[in-house]
Amino acid sequence: MFTKNKQALPTDIDPDNVPQHVAIIMDGNGRWAKKRLMPRVAGHKAGMENVKVITKAASRMGVKVLTLYAFSTENWKRPNDEVHYLMQLPVDFFGAFMPELIAENVQVQVMGNLEALPAKTQQAARDAMADTAQNTGMILNFALNYGSRDEIQQAVQQIAKDAVSGKIEPESIDDDLISQYLMTGFLGQYADPELLIRTSGEERISNFLLWQIAYSELVFVDEFWPDFTPTVFEQSILIYQHRNRRFGGLK
Ligand code: IPE
Ligand code: IPE
Ligand code: MG
Repeated sequence: MFTKNKQALPTDIDPDNVPQHVAIIMDGNGRWAKKRLMPRVAGHKAGMENVKVITKAASRMGVKVLTLYAFSTENWKRPNDEVHYLMQLPVDFFGAFMPELIAENVQVQVMGNLEALPAKTQQAARDAMADTAQNTGMILNFALNYGSRDEIQQAVQQIAKDAVSGKIEPESIDDDLISQYLMTGFLGQYADPELLIRTSGEERISNFLLWQIAYSELVFVDEFWPDFTPTVFEQSILIYQHRNRRFGGLK
């Protein structure tokens, strides 16, 4: 089902050990622009262009889910102009790239507190999901107005409601059930990324996928997001493939 777009990989990458779910904290757009004496939003535009490039690269490598952190629940603290621009980006992105996403057989998902987004942004997200719902290739999952503490808070509230109403027994609340109630629940067996990449040299999680990354391999790269090329992506996958994943055991 997912192998349609698989193509030849750089010889060093083991095609049987490509992470199925890759999550990326796309950081450094502002600094990329500043370095070029351009306004921060020019960095966001370049970053948006790069989403297309990395989506194709991931899809062709055989990645099944690519989760991209696009806007956090904390990013509302930024100046109005910048927030306004970031809210327009999904409209522009899906407007421009939808034919290519469909040609690439990519299925778009958007997770986060979507109700709090401007109407046009919500509409763009909903249209993108609807227009690609039939696609059977890689899932391109945007985290938009997403914060993991917000996600956990919502999940805990829903679990409590379902327990009170008798839909679930408190004793049945386990690892799997919690995963299902999180915003990544729809990904089923792919909910937890094997690999989390953060660009721009920052080494922190910034409220992203706190539950899901319990055993993810973390790779921090120095490149700003617009400079994160398919080659740097492949290098990150190689780093992942050379890690010794033990999950608490001995291996
Ligand atoms: C990431 O780039 C994009 C978003 C958070 C929306 P930044 O805008 O955080 O860029 P820097 O970190 O300021 O360089
Ligand atoms: C994380 O980047 C959020 C996204 C990439 C969307 P930030 O730039 O907002 O994170 P901090 O402020 O450096 O932690
Ligand atoms: Mg940043």
